[in-house]
Amino acid sequence: MLITNIGELVSNAPDSGSDSDQPGPFAVIEDAALVIEAGRVVWTGPAARAPAADEVTDCANRAVIPGFVDSHAHLVFAGERSADFVARMTGAAYRADGIRSTVEATRAAPDAMLRANLRRLTREMAAQGSTTLECKSGYGLTVADEQRSVRLAAEVTPEVSYLGAHVVPPEFSDDPGGYVDLVCGPMLAACAPHARWVDVFCEQGAFGADEARAVLEAGRAAGLIPRVHANQLGPGPGVQVAVEVGAASADHCTYLTEADVDALASSGTVATLLPGVEFSTRQPYPDARRLLAAGVTVALATDCNPGSCFTSSMPFCMALAVREMRMTTQEALWSATAGGARALRRADVGHLGVGARADLVILDAPSHSYLAYRPGVPLVAAVWQAGKMVPGGRLPSSPASGK
Ligand code: NIG
Ligand code: FE
Repeated sequence: MLITNIGELVSNAPDSGSDSDQPGPFAVIEDAALVIEAGRVVWTGPAARAPAADEVTDCANRAVIPGFVDSHAHLVFAGERSADFVARMTGAAYRADGIRSTVEATRAAPDAMLRANLRRLTREMAAQGSTTLECKSGYGLTVADEQRSVRLAAEVTPEVSYLGAHVVPPEFSDDPGGYVDLVCGPMLAACAPHARWVDVFCEQGAFGADEARAVLEAGRAAGLIPRVHANQLGPGPGVQVAVEVGAASADHCTYLTEADVDALASSGTVATLLPGVEFSTRQPYPDARRLLAAGVTVALATDCNPGSCFTSSMPFCMALAVREMRMTTQEALWSATAGGARALRRADVGHLGVGARADLVILDAPSHSYLAYRPGVPLVAAVWQAGKMVPGGRLPSSPASGK
C-alpha cells in the first residue's frame, strides 16, 4: 500500500548503516511517499520516485508523523475524581492520597466495568494518534486486584507495568513494611507473568528510596524492567534510585537538582515529562530545556489517570510542552514518538524508517507544527496501526489509477 503526496513526512529514521536498536533523531522528508507491506514500512522517499502499489492513499500535501508512543498511563480504574480537579482550580493542592478513593472504586468494580473503561480510553487514545501505549496497574493493591489489573491491561498492550507500589493501602497503614513485603513477594509472583515492567511511586507519602529499591530489585529478579515515578511533588531520591538501578525511564522529573540532571545525563535512563499533570495540578512545569541542554533523552507522555491528569491526548501534551516548557515543535514531536519508544526500549515504533511497524498518523495540516499551533483542534485525520487503518479515519483509500 502506497501513501503518497505527503507534504511533510516526519520519519525519525534510525541512521542508515548503524545497527541501531532505537529510533534516530528528528528527521523529515518533504514531498514524500511511504510504502507499507505486511504491517511494516518497506520504502520511504520522494513521491516522484514512489513505486507502484495495489492501493494508494493520496495525502494531498498533508503531514504524516509516526504514531504517538504514550509511555505512561494508568487506565485500569473505576470512578472519577472531577471534584478534586475542581477544588484544585480554586486553590486546593494535589494530594497523592486521592489515589486511595480510586482504589476503593476499582476494588468494588466488576471486571466488565474495568474492561469497558479501559477499552473506551484506549479507543480515545488511538483516535488521537497514539499507536503504542503503556498501561500500569496500581489501583488494586491486593494480590487479586493487582493481578486482575495487569491481566486486563495485557488485553490492550504488551507494555504493562506492575505498580503494586503506588501507595500503601489503608489496611496496611500501620504496617507499610508489611505492604512492601507483599508487593515484593506474593503480589509480584501473581503479576509478573502479565507484565513487562515494574514501577514504583517514589515520593514522600508513597515509598522512600530503600522501599523503591527493594521493589525494583525484586521486580527485576522476576524478569521485569524497572521504571520509576520520580520527583513529581517535590525534590527527592526518585531520579537517583532510577539511575542507580538502570531504569528505562524516570517519569515526572518536575523537581530536579543539579545532581539529578547530571545523573540522568550520564545514564541510559530517559526522563519522561508529563506536562498534563502540571496543567491539571497547577504545579510548575518541569525544566525541559535544562534536561535537553544536559543531553538527557526526553520523552513526553500523558499520564492519563483519574487523579493528577485525565487527558488521553498526546497532541495536547505536545502543545503544552511547546508553549509551557519551551520545547521546539520538533523536539516535542520527537519526544512524543521516538522518545516514548526509547522509554519503552522499543526499536520498531516511534519512527517510520524501513522496517518500522507501520504506525502512522495523517494530520489535517501541512506540518507537524500545527499540533501546537492549533491546540485543541482535532487534526488527526487518519491513523494506521501495524499497517491497518484504525476505524473512524477521515481519509478513504482509493484504488491506484492505471493499474
Ligand atoms: O502519575 N504519581 C502517582 N500516580 C499518578 C497519579 C495517580 C492518581 O492521582 O490517581 C501520577 O500522577
Ligand atoms: Fe503516573
